[in-house]
Amino acid sequence: MADRQQIRVLVTGGTGQLGLSLKKTQPESFSVSYAAKATLNIEDSDTVETYVKNNKPNVIINAAAYTKVDLAEKEKDAAFAANEKAVANLAQAAKKHGAFLVHISTDFLFHGSFNRPIDENQMVQPIGIYAQSKAAGERAVAESGAPAAIVRTSWLYSEFNANFMKTMLRLGREKSELRVIADQHGSPTYAVDLARALWQLVSAPQANAGTPEIFHFSNYGVTTWYDFACAILELAAIETPVLPILTHEYPVPTPRPAYSALWPRKFSERFQWPVRHWRRALSEAISEHKILEG
Ligand SMILES: NC(=O)c1ccc[n+]([C@@H]2O[C@H](COP(=O)([O-])OP(=O)(O)OC[C@H]3O[C@@H](n4cnc5c(N)ncnc54)[C@H](OP(=O)(O)O)[C@@H]3O)[C@@H](O)[C@H]2O)c1
Repeated sequence: MADRQQIRVLVTGGTGQLGLSLKKTQPESFSVSYAAKATLNIEDSDTVETYVKNNKPNVIINAAAYTKVDLAEKEKDAAFAANEKAVANLAQAAKKHGAFLVHISTDFLFHGSFNRPIDENQMVQPIGIYAQSKAAGERAVAESGAPAAIVRTSWLYSEFNANFMKTMLRLGREKSELRVIADQHGSPTYAVDLARALWQLVSAPQANAGTPEIFHFSNYGVTTWYDFACAILELAAIETPVLPILTHEYPVPTPRPAYSALWPRKFSERFQWPVRHWRRALSEAISEHKILEG
């Protein structure tokens, strides 16, 4: 990889939650373009090829994705176009022009019966269109032979765009009571923590080591949506009661994994990155959200 002073990075999905988190945490020594879909639609292979050829990024961070999990059941083509075809376009351009691709994937690939945090050696079992399209995207990266890292993450939230934390804060102020699922387990991940970790990854010389490798990244700790909601309201000093409900009491088109907490130790050790507990990260996110709200 080029000297750190000269590293040029392309972030796709630049106006998404992770894109904005990358922008917030970007080290000054990187030269970064944040491309919104309107300027760089990665589903168009010619556009991607031309962009990468002309701008010659050393690193491409693919923070773009089709992320509407339930709507994906009705929009299969759109989900696969963004999460598989577009990823193949990026991987091919990365391989051809010598860029290192960092592709983001998801804990929703794991619908197996797990009862402890999931490491990179576990088999994926994607259920539903969104998960299947993300699994196809991972395969597209692997089959391209591009130098790449696939980083799977989980339960992203932040002060940016729409996400679970912001929904709970809004509903906690609007409603007299909240009902939140208490039998799905995972690891909430502050998108800003993921962004900081990704900058560490692209700074590491060994990141450019060749064939695609998979990493799991989440904050440490396992919880449920119910406990996560309680922690959000508590930190924001909102006293609205939160009642636990079970998955079958809140039917949605796409089934969610019962347990999809990720185990980020490989990432932490490889990139010497101190992963913190989700509660500490949440505390920062709530403070940052208050600042943005004014
Ligand atoms: N959010 C979570 O809880 C979660 C959990 C696990 C993994 N992930 C993964 O983490 C990554 C980042 O998620 P996020 O929360 O930042 O999602 P997000 O806020 O929905 O951002 C995705 C961005 O991708 C853009 N995009 C969609 N199709 C595109 C295309 N064809 N070309 C260029 N840009 C396109 C979207 O633009 P428009 O808004 O204009 O469509 C949006 O700005 C994704 O890979 C997601 O699968 C997310």
